[in-house]
This record gives sequence, structure tokens and C-alpha cells, in this order.
Amino acid sequence: MPFEIIPNSGERAFLKVGDKTLALFNVATQFYAIDDSCPHQGASLFSGRLEGRVIQCCAHGLRFDLTNGCLVNSSQLRVATYPVEMVEDKVFIVMGCGENHE
Ligand code: FES
Repeated sequence: MPFEIIPNSGERAFLKVGDKTLALFNVATQFYAIDDSCPHQGASLFSGRLEGRVIQCCAHGLRFDLTNGCLVNSSQLRVATYPVEMVEDKVFIVMGCGENHE
């Protein structure tokens, strides 16, 4: 489904899709969509600190790579990521049956 709120480069948007909450980031005109729930203890990642393509959770400071959802320097924790496609000027987040897609 296309989204009305498209963040400008360097910005982010908070989305509610069904029972999920997602954070959509625009980093240098590239879009990344992740679950808004930190895989550590569930804090919101939307308001985290973004450095390049790494988002830092506000709660305990864990950092996740937006490109693959993995905890930086570890594969122990991973936040769900969703492919984002641009069709004309619309942004589509590709969501399967609640599974993680790369
Ligand atoms: S809840 Fe995100 S680092 Fe702990």
C-alpha cells in the first residue's frame, strides 16, 4: 500500500500498519523501513539517534544497522526490516505475512 507521509532526506516517519508500528527513514534519498519495536526490550526506535544508516535505541543505546536490521557488530539481535520500493512518487513498504524480508 502506498503511504501518504514520505519523509524528506534526513527525516523519518512513524507509520501504523494494521497491528504493526513501523519507522520509515530516508537516508540520502534511500528509504529503510523497520519495526518500531527494539528487539532488546521493545522501546520505540523511531525517536532513536540516527548516525548514517545506524539507529541507536534511546532506551539502552543498542545500535542497529538499518540496511539489515542487525545489531552493530553482532548478529544476536535483529529488528525486522521491510523492503521499500519507489514507484513514481509513491513509497511502498513490502510486507509479507509478518515475516522479515530482505
Ligand atoms: S530497548 Fe532498545 S536497547 Fe534496550
